[in-house]
Amino acid sequence: MKVLLLGSGGREHAIGWKLHQSPLITRLISCPGNPGLAEIGDLTTDISPTDAEAVAAYASAEGVDLVVVGPEAPLAAGVADALIEVGVPVFGPVEYAARLESSKAFAKEKMAAANVPTAGYGDFTDRAEALAYLDDIDGPYVVKADGLAAGKGVLVTEDIQEARAWVDDCFDGRFAEAGSRVVIEEYLEGNEVSIFFICSGTTAVPLQPARDYKRLLDGDLGPNTGGMGCYSPVADVPDYFTQWTRTHVAEPVLRALEEEGAPYTGFLYVGLMLTEDGPQVLEFNCRLGDPETQVLMPRLETDLLELLHAGAHGSLEGADLEWSPRYAVDLVLASPGYPEAPETGLAIIGLDHVTEAIVFHAGTEIVDGKLLSTGGRVLNVVGLGDNIAEARADAYAAADLIQFRGKHVRSDIASTNGRE
Ligand code: AMP
Ligand code: GLY
Repeated sequence: MKVLLLGSGGREHAIGWKLHQSPLITRLISCPGNPGLAEIGDLTTDISPTDAEAVAAYASAEGVDLVVVGPEAPLAAGVADALIEVGVPVFGPVEYAARLESSKAFAKEKMAAANVPTAGYGDFTDRAEALAYLDDIDGPYVVKADGLAAGKGVLVTEDIQEARAWVDDCFDGRFAEAGSRVVIEEYLEGNEVSIFFICSGTTAVPLQPARDYKRLLDGDLGPNTGGMGCYSPVADVPDYFTQWTRTHVAEPVLRALEEEGAPYTGFLYVGLMLTEDGPQVLEFNCRLGDPETQVLMPRLETDLLELLHAGAHGSLEGADLEWSPRYAVDLVLASPGYPEAPETGLAIIGLDHVTEAIVFHAGTEIVDGKLLSTGGRVLNVVGLGDNIAEARADAYAAADLIQFRGKHVRSDIASTNGRE
């Protein structure tokens, strides 16, 4: 099978790495990919992954058997719709269904229709109405730009003036079109958990849990990031909780979309808050987590290509995933300045010294034969072991072998004192 993988980060390298292990694969093409993906397949940079028509024309001309979409932007741009139009199977939802992520108001409407527990909210396209609503409620205040804002569109604050200013920022264009609609939510308190599913039609097959560390610095200090590391399995997220999320969240939402004539095919990421009154959904994403994928793919024993191909053909029912009992720990090697202003163009050395851990590229490129950083999260190293301490030791030993100026790695990932 010829597979086209869209995306260029650590998540996509991990997905590609796993797809590449399938006996069914004949060729892996990544668009645009990264130097890690280049080692296991071809890259194409002639087309943009968010140019739906160009992706469809390319996949069709190349005789691609399956397109797998890593990030959310191509889905919101209608890549899956365009591929379906030209008859190329795709694992990723159509634009309408992908609004579960690209519109917070849409997600709220679907949750209401499916009776999914979530925070109460107001939804506004009018600034004055949003501000009046804020004045009527008590803090803490949760104000969200409706659309895709690279994880930066949400403000949680006790300060009403700050909340009002966020509403103004949204309507004044800080998040462009994504801020032209604003959702204001009831504040929820508790621990956060994310559960991922492989979905097709009304079937949702859960992946095992992984826990990520969102803050930049040790002890969960410093600014929020995309994720600085993670581990799997997670002892305190029991299997019954995953099953609860499947039957009370994922499947009802999938049924609601199917009833509307927009069945959902693709990964589904459910973010939950474990409150005193039970779990409540915070958000949906139409993609897998990054860096969670980097610890899940090495532990997954089932053939990913077979699964995603079945998903794209609407035949996931009865699928059951096999997992390695081994532990995986992922460390993110970040650039100085991340997340605000990451330095790029830093020369990276030492990758060839790593023998015990898996290296997934996230923000790298090769220029004149040299590996350089291109973004904030540069590389992931994943250690594996029969227990968490072994996996952790493996990952940290590998992270020490790789060098670039100002390399930042949290030192407490998967340790007993690093927990959020
Ligand atoms: P979202 O992108 O909607 O998941 O929001 C980003 C982050 O803001 C979440 O991961 C939570 O930490 C926080 N958050 C979102 N909604 C709420 C809420 N209703 N109550 C408390 N915190 C929230
Ligand atoms: N690690 C969280 C995310 O992918 O959004």
